[in-house]
Amino acid sequence: MSTEWILILDYGGQYTQLIARRVREANIFCRIEPPGFGGSETAGDASLKGVVLSGGPSSVFADDAPTLPDWFSRYEGPVLGICYGMQLLARAEGGEVAGGGEMEFGPARLRFEKDAPLFQGIESGGQVWMSHGDRVTALPAGYECIGSTSDLATAAIANVQARRYGVQFHPEVMHTTGGTRMLDNFLRVVCACSGTWTPDRYAESKLAAIREATADGGEVLCGVSGGVDSTVTARLLQTAVGNRLRAVFVDNGLLRKGEREWVMDTFQRGMGIDLHCIDGASLFLERLAGIFDPEEKRKIIGHTFIDLFEQHAKEWPEVRYLAQGTLYPDVIESTSTGGPSAKIKTHHNVGGLPETLQLDLIEPLRDLFKDEVRALGRELGVPEELLMRHPFPGPGLAVRILGPVDEPSLNLLRDCDDLFIKELHTAGWYDKIWQAFAVLLPIQSVGVQGDRRSYERALAIRAVSSVDGMTADWSRLPHELLARISTRIMNEVSGVNRIVYDISSKPPATIEWE
Ligand code: XMP
Repeated sequence: MSTEWILILDYGGQYTQLIARRVREANIFCRIEPPGFGGSETAGDASLKGVVLSGGPSSVFADDAPTLPDWFSRYEGPVLGICYGMQLLARAEGGEVAGGGEMEFGPARLRFEKDAPLFQGIESGGQVWMSHGDRVTALPAGYECIGSTSDLATAAIANVQARRYGVQFHPEVMHTTGGTRMLDNFLRVVCACSGTWTPDRYAESKLAAIREATADGGEVLCGVSGGVDSTVTARLLQTAVGNRLRAVFVDNGLLRKGEREWVMDTFQRGMGIDLHCIDGASLFLERLAGIFDPEEKRKIIGHTFIDLFEQHAKEWPEVRYLAQGTLYPDVIESTSTGGPSAKIKTHHNVGGLPETLQLDLIEPLRDLFKDEVRALGRELGVPEELLMRHPFPGPGLAVRILGPVDEPSLNLLRDCDDLFIKELHTAGWYDKIWQAFAVLLPIQSVGVQGDRRSYERALAIRAVSSVDGMTADWSRLPHELLARISTRIMNEVSGVNRIVYDISSKPPATIEWE
């Protein structure tokens, strides 16, 4: 790798992704890798500016405790060990760790014992966030204690000469005052990173990589949904390979109100990308008829996407590559220490397509987090309204109609969802939240409308805040706004006579209802 970078070895800590976020925010490229990552070349990689050892749930005394990679003993660059990472580092360098004491969890005050580059510009006595059981009891040779708390004599240790640091607390969480500055000090002062990894640099290197990967002149197929990731992927491809891009949009009949027209128009007129639309609505609806089970719906939709692409593939004989907007969190999820997490729902993407159509996969966003994708899109001139759209699941409204999907339910949900989103825009809330949508419930309830008894469907509305969709909290929308949304839907859409606001967080709920 020629760009300067930081390696984060992931020992399964809850906050490992946050460390990566902080490094990226400092405009430095980083990768999160499992403890077994790398070989002899890693120790001598001149562009590797430093290594962070993350925290983790294990104890260094456990039989199956994850360890440092083999090459680490030959690596001479800067290291920051956080929590479990500090204990690993201390042991590897000849210090001692003791276990079995009380768990320490929560805030503590960090008193600086010595000046150190890690603490530049930070005041002693600030709050730090603790979460550990084991602790370092004897320092390795060459190390000194640079910080302590009332409960822990060795809260921060350093071998300044060797550029190695260990902290028992978590500088990456916001509860550690000065934590961001501490990480910044490690990156810029200790590792001497220049911090030049910006979206324009990224775009430049990605464009060159795409051109090289497709140098045989083959065409690139890119499935476009109108969401941020596939749009930025298509834009990169358009810039890199010009008219060798085959951008395809599938209308699965499960889209929101006016979505097909909007996406086609924004691509064609707004971005000058010739978007081909496959009309699959009737096929999807036919196959979904009468299906209750959420997983079955998702599977049917996934297979139908593949069937449609296969049917149309003969129209694209020159296509040799498939571009997908896979993001970094998806990559980490499937490779980090914990391995793939338990399957909660089968997220739809066009998985399976590369093999069936014998295409090589191009995933230009697989190093990036969502906000970085937005920054890159901005750099490439993708219209702001596309970049700021809320995520929308591949199976579309099918997972927002509980129970079987049919045309009348789709139309009802479209109208309700449209009014809800319009009101959020008007109130200035749309851009403040991660995602908002309406869900049509499989129950009817009694109401009274115009002096008459009604027996109509119930609707749920949901708005959540989130950083990456992995966890989410329900949004505290103002009551007046909720009242306006409810009144408008009741008055303007017929078929719904009860509206509930979803106040569940993820976990234990998920963002979508199916
Ligand atoms: P859940 O419901 O799992 O959703 O909490 C997390 C985020 O993922 C979106 N989502 C999907 N996105 N294909 C996608 O591309 C899918 O099948 C899918 N299912 C859920 C969801 O909207 C939320 O942003």
